[in-house]
Amino acid sequence: MSEQARKYDLYGPDFKRDPHPTFEAMRRDDPIYSQTGLDGKTPIWFVTRYDDVDAMLRDKRFVRDARNALPPDRIPQPSPLDAMLGNHMLNRDGDDHVRLRSLVSQAFTPKRVADLRPRVEAIASGLLDDVAPRGEMDLIDDFAFPLPTIVILEMLGVPSEDRARFRVWANALLEPMMTPEGQAEAVRHLTAFTEYLRALFAERRAEPRGDMLSALVAAGHAGEGLSEDELFSTMVLLITAGHETTVNLIANAVLALTRRPALRDALAADPDAMPAAVEEFLRFDGPVERAINRWAAEDVEWGGHLIRRGDPVILILGSANHDAERFDRPGDLDVARDARAHLAFGKGPHYCLGAPLARLEGAVALNALLARLPNLRLGVDEADLRYRFLPGFRALEALPVRWDVSSG
Ligand code: HEM
Repeated sequence: MSEQARKYDLYGPDFKRDPHPTFEAMRRDDPIYSQTGLDGKTPIWFVTRYDDVDAMLRDKRFVRDARNALPPDRIPQPSPLDAMLGNHMLNRDGDDHVRLRSLVSQAFTPKRVADLRPRVEAIASGLLDDVAPRGEMDLIDDFAFPLPTIVILEMLGVPSEDRARFRVWANALLEPMMTPEGQAEAVRHLTAFTEYLRALFAERRAEPRGDMLSALVAAGHAGEGLSEDELFSTMVLLITAGHETTVNLIANAVLALTRRPALRDALAADPDAMPAAVEEFLRFDGPVERAINRWAAEDVEWGGHLIRRGDPVILILGSANHDAERFDRPGDLDVARDARAHLAFGKGPHYCLGAPLARLEGAVALNALLARLPNLRLGVDEADLRYRFLPGFRALEALPVRWDVSSG
């Protein structure tokens, strides 16, 4: 099939800068719409209204595991590297999904996460001690990226000094590989990632500690049904899940606040208001624009369309969160509203496992920034801000910021 023109641009820089006019048109005219994806060939259903996105995320007929939807001859054969990296809960359905999720879910309950607060606050404070006297930083490199990365690596028991390498590896997993050279480079990085993990697993196997890594390695051995591939993939998922997510929750919220100094000052004066504000930041400009694609496991009639077995379906969370049928004045950032019905963490069986942690990190990070960096503002012209080409994510390349430094 030759490359087909798309009615809606869901990838270009204008779309990235402000996707909402496109989403509004889709919700109005084509709430369930099939057009080609990134490869210019494969038709994909794009779903943009809140009620549809919400219902489809909970509907068992839309699955994550291609083997539950596609006829055997159409199931992509995973390479050994894919098997090592992709055998995790987010790619599984039903009992397999429950088994993989329950192995780690205990560590992410609201209670366990609340116990981490002092440590998250100390990490945020330490990062700000380093930069505060400078009066400027790249918010992403210097703060929003290191904070959640150090937290998750400490939780898992992975040396956090190695975090720069994890960033390269996480990018290799997330960036679409558009060229053969890009693919070769990604394979190189991901091979290095698996070698690193293999060495770490061997260390914990020989000498267990009280960390999640040791617990997972033990589950892999104790016949709890965790295969070697699943062990690798679960670690990779947990390490990378916070990389383009919590980072961009913090960065997108700070960008919104630099555009609204009165709101910035009001929140600085009222730290208790931050948890509710975080819900609104997640609704207004959440880091994950789309859920990972699902496949229809059977023919499904939906909204006057026939979605055929094996068709890919993409649910656009960022559009659902701006649906005026669900949220009044969706384009207004209003921290006083009850935004908790947002879909920024997804819905249904794959609802974000890390949501309590992300909420805690977001609130701690934003309160620390507002308390320590007076008059926090953008350090470049708005026109110089660039979004990364990461379909499905709202990720700025950099967010230079400045603040007032007292000379005394
Ligand atoms: C603001 C930050 C975050 C956002 C917006 C976010 C968003 C999401 C979304 C939308 C999903 C569902 C994807 C889908 O159904 O296609 C998801 C799943 C997941 N998230 Fe997060 N996430 C965040 C932070 C984290 C953190 C910090 C962790 C853990 C360290 C984490 C771990 C996971 C895991 C393990 C899943 C898969 C759950 C499953 O398949 O059952 N997330 N996340």
